[in-house]
Amino acid sequence: MTTALVTGATAGIGAEFARQLAASGHDLILVARDAARLEASAAALRATGVSVEVLATDLADRAGVATVAARVGDPDRPVDVLVNNAGFGTVTSLGDADTSEQERALDVMATAPLVLGAAAASAMKRRGAGQIITVASLSAWITHGGYSAVKAYAKVWSEGLSIELAGTGVTATALCPGWVRTEFHERAGLAATGIPGWAWVDAERCVRECLAHADAGRVLSLPTKRWKLAAFGLQHAPRALVYAIGRRMQGMRP
Ligand SMILES: NC(=O)c1ccc[n+]([C@@H]2O[C@H](COP(=O)([O-])OP(=O)(O)OC[C@H]3O[C@@H](n4cnc5c(N)ncnc54)[C@H](OP(=O)(O)O)[C@@H]3O)[C@@H](O)[C@H]2O)c1
Repeated sequence: MTTALVTGATAGIGAEFARQLAASGHDLILVARDAARLEASAAALRATGVSVEVLATDLADRAGVATVAARVGDPDRPVDVLVNNAGFGTVTSLGDADTSEQERALDVMATAPLVLGAAAASAMKRRGAGQIITVASLSAWITHGGYSAVKAYAKVWSEGLSIELAGTGVTATALCPGWVRTEFHERAGLAATGIPGWAWVDAERCVRECLAHADAGRVLSLPTKRWKLAAFGLQHAPRALVYAIGRRMQGMRP
């Protein structure tokens, strides 16, 4: 029996990671802030026959991250798969005097993966096996405010980690989805109404493909051919076009 720790495991993509990892026989450690919702998620997953721990933690809080890192690195209770998934959409402008939301985004979606990934990599290297999956975003290829910047960090950090881990038996994979129907947009108050139906990917497919990519040792996981094509196009597009997309997407903010 192997153990997976999933952050942001009570909703959306993280809940789907927890379901699919449980279905393939992993014991689980679920991390999120809402303790009641964590307990409800754990009870549903235990009913499928796996063992589930919960850690009610705010990953914007360094002491909370340290507690989760200690669990990830515990040599007596190995964590075989780390899924750095917790995150949220940012709506404030980079020029706003109050930078608290942008700082929290860096804490949850950059610093927490860095600290948990380091704890996991060091413990997994000693055992010669393990997977570190980080949910970045297709936004890493564009310039959509602070969210793109923090997801670009998550993607490049994960790519760098994968290079450092080559030959150790441990892999790092960055999942980079486009739009996925979860609680993400509603929680952030983002208007997702103008996005055409074909542009969405469901969480089940994102996670299924990502777990296969992680098993194959792939560095990047881009769900669906259309999003692979989008990433390729954005990678090679003139920056002026990328900036024009960024300007257009500003209209999605409330
Ligand atoms: N949905 C999309 O279109 C999309 C596209 C690309 C990438 N992503 C990325 O995918 C990841 C998952 O997003 P989602 O769409 O599944 O969102 P979601 O449905 O809103 O779920 C977010 C999860 O993260 C947890 N969380 C949020 N802030 C946290 C914090 N400070 N500490 C601990 N846990 C926290 C939430 O639980 P609590 O509120 O209880 O803490 C919840 O379990 C994020 O990193 C997001 O940036 C999403």
